[in-house]
Amino acid sequence: MSAWEKKLRSIEETCAQTVSKTKDLKKLESLRINVLGRKGRLTLLLKSIKDLSLKERRVLGLKANQLKDSLESLIGKKKEELSLSDLQNKLQSSASFDPTLPAYFFRQGHLHPLTQTLDRLTGALTQLGFSWADGPLVETDYYNFEALNIPPDHPARDMQDTFYVSPKSEVLSPKSPGHRTSDIGPRTTYLMRTHTSPVQIRKMESTRPPLRIIAPGKVFRHEAVDATHSAVFHQIEGLAIDHQVSMADLKGTLHLFMQHVFGPQTEIRFRPSYFPFTEPSAEVDVQCHFCHGGGCSVCKKSGWLEMLGAGLVHPHVLKNVGYDPDLWSGFAFGIGVERVAMILFGIQDIRMFYENDLRFLEQF
Ligand code: PHE
Repeated sequence: MSAWEKKLRSIEETCAQTVSKTKDLKKLESLRINVLGRKGRLTLLLKSIKDLSLKERRVLGLKANQLKDSLESLIGKKKEELSLSDLQNKLQSSASFDPTLPAYFFRQGHLHPLTQTLDRLTGALTQLGFSWADGPLVETDYYNFEALNIPPDHPARDMQDTFYVSPKSEVLSPKSPGHRTSDIGPRTTYLMRTHTSPVQIRKMESTRPPLRIIAPGKVFRHEAVDATHSAVFHQIEGLAIDHQVSMADLKGTLHLFMQHVFGPQTEIRFRPSYFPFTEPSAEVDVQCHFCHGGGCSVCKKSGWLEMLGAGLVHPHVLKNVGYDPDLWSGFAFGIGVERVAMILFGIQDIRMFYENDLRFLEQF
């Protein structure tokens, strides 16, 4: 037997012995490294094969490689055995671990009812081909009022009493002493936006028609808070500009929109109304979700619930953004998110949405 062959034997024997005796995973691993590692005995022996004659190389090379494979699987199997019994030992020795106990209860959160409602409304509108637009919450008087055909001192400003933000960023109400809109120009008077309509102007200024956008977001009004009024609430604005857009387009779009939100049988009706930035303007009602038109306490026996403000975009507004009113026309609408959520979930008091009382929120 050559020296080389003897070395092979001895490796085989020491390995077989150690593997059969050891009960220790660490010892097994160091054996593996000593023999099969990069500087292991067998690895080095295999490297020295180039010093042998061609004939020896064939025979011993084969043997060495076979040994390598069989040692790898021997050590691997032993490792599995030891890990398993290790785990069993641990399980038996730790008296505190009881695998039959029920698992810890993880509280799973969910979306706020207003977010759910927003998703439902915007989901319906994106399916109708509208894309998202956004604007700042602190607006200038120009975007919130003037560009929308609401000049200073216009009585329509009374419908949307707001919070003015002075250049020094204190918040002023319009009645704050010393504050007059005319003191500073319309582009430098800052206020919390009272509706999402200024996004109409911003989008039209930056985009060439045709366009179809929705603008969801927070709005602010200087309002006495009660069960149906909040100083901060949410609206979704819709705007479509194209050639020859008519009331029929508006009506068809809003009918589909409301059916998507309240169900396929939902009917809507238009009542004449007034907004400075639309002409004609309409208040849009949806058949009462609770009595289906029969009359109940929620709809005050009318069978209808007031849902949206809408109309055809006023030519002055188109001119303000540089669109030619002879070429382009459009419709716009605005919907209050809280109101829809209150109807969908049967919630009577708007203040519940903002109080973060889990006993309330967990119900939806
Ligand atoms: N901006 C109006 C409001 O807040 C709603 C509206 C939007 C009306 C678009 C007509 C067209 O009351």
